[in-house]
Amino acid sequence: MTKLIVANWKMNGRVAGLPGYAAEIKAACLAERGVPADLVVCPPAPLLPLMAEALAGCPAALGAQDCHVHMTGAHTGDLSPALLAEVGCRYVIVGHSERRQDHHETDALVNAKAAAAHAAGLRPIICVGETAAERAAGRTLEVVERQVRLSVPRDLTEAVIAYEPVWAIGTGAVPTPQDITSVHDAIRGWLPDPAMPVLYGGSVKPTNAGAILGLADVDGVLVGGACLVASDFLAIARAA
Ligand code: PGA
Repeated sequence: MTKLIVANWKMNGRVAGLPGYAAEIKAACLAERGVPADLVVCPPAPLLPLMAEALAGCPAALGAQDCHVHMTGAHTGDLSPALLAEVGCRYVIVGHSERRQDHHETDALVNAKAAAAHAAGLRPIICVGETAAERAAGRTLEVVERQVRLSVPRDLTEAVIAYEPVWAIGTGAVPTPQDITSVHDAIRGWLPDPAMPVLYGGSVKPTNAGAILGLADVDGVLVGGACLVASDFLAIARAA
């Protein structure tokens, strides 16, 4: 399966840097040898239409970082999945640990967001992962199993899962290949469809991407910090 490499800009990036970033991604994708992976770029919501325009004609897909459970209505500040699709998004990240923490998002809410995304024609990237304290207490599999069973709608097959241990996000710490493999293996058993792609996320860099993407059970990576420089993001994609 072609690996899926997702850039999560989080709340970073400005208008001024967007054309150069997009041009570099586009040039790499359209070059004769191309990029041996499927790319998704998830900038902050205000940049989505600009990114859609800048990436036109490029196989890299556009994604959002969150969406609401309803398509329209009185929900100040929220993002309609239907509108995200309309401005060119094909993916949306839901249940990222930063949203679970900063906005108290529950598994039930993440589940509803994933279902709404699917209904709008978007492919949800549903994030799960244990905290440092849960890991230290030996509860990794128990926590991730609960998140997968409750956050992934049972009738959904067109979804992507991202295993992102919270303690590995932005810290430089990465689980061992054995740990990634055993959690990914277990996740597959809890999914409504074991064929759903399972990505790894947390401190993925050009230096460790080859080893992580080389693992049989890793269908791609979700990249935060290292995606902000286009050449680093492309180096990760080329490691696929
Ligand atoms: P990181 O973030 O690559 O900066 O660790 C990954 C993520 O949160 O998706």
